[in-house]
Amino acid sequence: MNRRLTNKLYSTMSYAYQIKSLEQYQSEYKKSVEDPEKFWGDIAENFYWRKKWESVLNWNFAEPKIEWYKGGKLNITENCIDRHLATMADQPAIIWEPNNPEERVRTVTYARLHKRVCQFAQVLKNNGVKKGDRVCIYMGMVPELAYAVLGCARIGAIHSVIFGGFSAQSIADRLEDAQATFIVTCDGAYRGGKDIPLKSVIDEALIGNKTVKRVIVYTRTRTPVSMIKGRDVWWEDEMEYAETQIEKDGVVSFPAEEMDAEDPLFILYTSGSTGKPKGVVHSVAGYMVWTNYTFVNVFQYQPGDIHFCTADIGWITGHSYIVYGPLSAGATSLMFEGIPTWPDAGRFWDIVEKHKVNCLYTAPTAIRSLMTFGTEPIKGKNLSSLKILGTVGEPINEEAWHWYDENIGQKKCPIVDTWWQTETGGCLISNLAGVTPAKASWATLPLPGVQPLLVDENGKEVTEKDENGLMKGNLCMRAPWPGILRTTYGDHERCRTNYFATYPNLYFTGDGALKDENGFYRITGRVDDVLNISGHRIGTAEVENAINMHAGVVESAIVGYPHDIKGQGIYAFVIYNGHHGDEALRRQDISLTVAKIIGPIAKPDKIQFVTGLPKTRSGKIMRRILRKIAEGETENLGDTSTLLDPAIVDEIKNGKI
Ligand code: WT7
Repeated sequence: MNRRLTNKLYSTMSYAYQIKSLEQYQSEYKKSVEDPEKFWGDIAENFYWRKKWESVLNWNFAEPKIEWYKGGKLNITENCIDRHLATMADQPAIIWEPNNPEERVRTVTYARLHKRVCQFAQVLKNNGVKKGDRVCIYMGMVPELAYAVLGCARIGAIHSVIFGGFSAQSIADRLEDAQATFIVTCDGAYRGGKDIPLKSVIDEALIGNKTVKRVIVYTRTRTPVSMIKGRDVWWEDEMEYAETQIEKDGVVSFPAEEMDAEDPLFILYTSGSTGKPKGVVHSVAGYMVWTNYTFVNVFQYQPGDIHFCTADIGWITGHSYIVYGPLSAGATSLMFEGIPTWPDAGRFWDIVEKHKVNCLYTAPTAIRSLMTFGTEPIKGKNLSSLKILGTVGEPINEEAWHWYDENIGQKKCPIVDTWWQTETGGCLISNLAGVTPAKASWATLPLPGVQPLLVDENGKEVTEKDENGLMKGNLCMRAPWPGILRTTYGDHERCRTNYFATYPNLYFTGDGALKDENGFYRITGRVDDVLNISGHRIGTAEVENAINMHAGVVESAIVGYPHDIKGQGIYAFVIYNGHHGDEALRRQDISLTVAKIIGPIAKPDKIQFVTGLPKTRSGKIMRRILRKIAEGETENLGDTSTLLDPAIVDEIKNGKI
């Protein structure tokens, strides 16, 4: 069949719940807050349920206990795939753009996606994976990653995707925490000019592991791999056999597991201010409704549009806006294997032109990095298909916002600044493209069902405006929305203390925010000890622990500092007692240690050797002072009189790099 698989022709989805005007937004918002059960019950009618729910919402934030659509039975893959087959079998679900632009593009129709997901679900079954088992996925951005995720969801296994930039040690910790029994990986992954040997990282992570029974390996780079007898199998062999089981007389089927609305769908590890990363758990029904609803409304998706979210599926953005949101809406999701600057800084624009992308959703850090190349890489590229632009992951500075607006959107495309978190499942605060107003650097208004408030340190709601007419405080939520996390895997108490205990009966985001006279929110950044490096969350405690593992290090303290491209950079103050090598060498050794313990993404940008750290008499490191020094502040360091050794501050200040 040589039909062109583009556009309108095959699409029949319509979105009755897509908000089309500011007035409608206001009335929907009002309804969602006044009667959430009615509101979210009505929205949920737009999905395919094996059995309808008994109650829409039960909750308290004290435990916390949050249940959406209790008693409902469904499978998310029937909503993401099967229900589209009657009308959109030939519509592209995923368009895959390879790392190397010379390599063939792969277009995966809904019919093909159905087959591959059924096949992979069969593979999991053949290998003994059952509902509730944890499957770790460590792959590059290939379509098989989406098949693996959805295959798990189809049989009710809980997927835990780990981004390819994490180290063997990080994987080992996550495997242990999740008690995972099965791994899906690739021999290697292409990222720009690099080949990353994923399977050998997995081999290292599995030394000493006692839970993993099987590793399935998809061939991508043909890099040499060691396959362990009885444990490791090839994706291709398994899929070939499964095909004979799921296809009879040209009909493909693999019955989807019937899931409870509140069964866990996946675990995604993310950093906090203390301890090791925690496994954020999302459950099937609420997450499905939330990603779908926010996808359709924030991006104002129209049937046939090509949606390009540039994130990696290893992060929540990829889960929600490459896989579940778009597919549940019958959309066409463009998946890109590579990086924005390879083979050159025009890659995104080539992709937009080549695939006639309608919506581009990326991170401020990518925009800032592309800005440094000027407008040369954009010249001659046809970007006229673009209708909507989006950003996510960190505050966007006005300069980057305007550059994006003028050079990419050519002032014709609304920009959505979407604020959300791994824990929130999907966007909470964002303008709706072209429907509600945009304001540079402001995430603006809450989505229906989202009830933000600002509180002071004592948990008292902020109602006073400052001299600029703005309210300022810590951002919390009063009530649950369908996509809120349910627990942190294996440790519910940790979920409570992290998110629900700082301020009683509120969900605390960890972010600070401003609110203007229109009720618009501007997120100012984390107020806890969490850094946001290029839109990725990294805990200071985690980096300090990694640095402290290095034999020569006595103690360290990490703070963030403003970084032109990454948003924040990592500044490390290190007390060193080893005798080995000069400072440059020591720095390299420390960086390598961090790369080994966490992954290259957590390497410090700056390392300053110091003889002491500013501590209070009770031994607490005063990060506030270090933060100011790292930011280049020399005068107003605040009160240093409570320090054990105030003289250390001058030494650190003078040694700043
Ligand atoms: C943290 C969550 C949401 C997916 C990617 C990151 C920051 C996120 C924005 C935005 C300002 C933002 C917050 C948040 N953040 N989006 N539009 N404006 N800040 O997910 O790793 O869970 O990080 O990213 O600080 O708490 P994450």
